[in-house]
Amino acid sequence: MSETLLSIKGLKKSFGKLEVLKGLTTDIRKGEVVVMIGPSGGGKSTFLRCMNLLEQPTEGSIVFDGIDIVSADEAVKNRVRSEMGMVFQHFNLFPHLTVLDNIRLAPRLVRGHSHYATARQALELLDRVGLADKAKAYPQQLSGGQKQRVAIVRSLAMEPKVMLFDEPTSALDPEMVGEVLDVMKDLAKNGMTMVAVTHEMRFARDVASRVLFLEGGRIAAEGTPAEIFDRKHDGRLGEFLGKVHVGMGFRDKVKSELLDILEDREVSEEELARLKELLGGASRQSDGFSNPTKRRTTQ
Ligand SMILES: Nc1ncnc2c1ncn2[C@@H]1O[C@H](COP(=O)(O)OP(=O)(O)OP(=O)(O)O)[C@@H](O)[C@H]1O
Ligand SMILES: [Mg+2]
Repeated sequence: MSETLLSIKGLKKSFGKLEVLKGLTTDIRKGEVVVMIGPSGGGKSTFLRCMNLLEQPTEGSIVFDGIDIVSADEAVKNRVRSEMGMVFQHFNLFPHLTVLDNIRLAPRLVRGHSHYATARQALELLDRVGLADKAKAYPQQLSGGQKQRVAIVRSLAMEPKVMLFDEPTSALDPEMVGEVLDVMKDLAKNGMTMVAVTHEMRFARDVASRVLFLEGGRIAAEGTPAEIFDRKHDGRLGEFLGKVHVGMGFRDKVKSELLDILEDREVSEEELARLKELLGGASRQSDGFSNPTKRRTTQ
């Protein structure tokens, strides 16, 4: 098992009298892709914002790369923030700067890298996300999906140790969601440690190493994608998954039903092979399995 990058213990956050995070404990290991799901207001964004100290936790500890960053001094906090990339629903690009300058601003200002080195790095990263030809464009000349890919590249230019994503595709038109998820998948494949809040359940199932279900300021359930998505759950998790499964593909519905039926039975190898064959046929009718109720319009 790989090394722990972020160790979070008893994390609490209150806004005035409202306690939003009620003691969260979890470890995030290097190379893990942790996907957070859960109902609105459950504390997902607040948890992410506490992780990179955009919000100061009220209680608890976050040990990042060996240092408790909650109680660290401002200089350490600033360094830590620069080592955690964060991508939001809205892209927050500087409108008056070209794509290239948006990307190289922080490496130049914070890291003091040269004009030439930052340009070369920015172009390489843009090429990696298929936007090499947009270096000289301004943000308003880009589509939502392109802007979000630039926002991801801008974070990557700081060579972060972990990338935090807060609903990176929720503001996008449906046809642009895939291109952003593909970039995230590519990052995951290349070993980037990631924590992502998303309603894209297909992404969670395919890419996550672990899924956290946040509800009422607590981690109410946690498991591998198979443990979360392929089993029947009671309580709030069951209710939540029931809602997001509205947009589930036909194949996944069949699979989920079958797994429920088969839960307590012995299944032979032949039977399993036959089932897989049947499901393979059904997959031609499969569609996405994101949550259509959560889609927002582009700003
Ligand atoms: N700056 C703030 N001041 C006061 N209350 C806040 C602040 N930020 C968040 N909250 C409250 O904390 C709770 C959790 O909010 P949070 O944004 O973390 O939820 P979420 O799980 O990300 O929800 P969503 O799925 O809608 O994005 C909510 O009740 C929210 O109103
Ligand atoms: Mg949120």
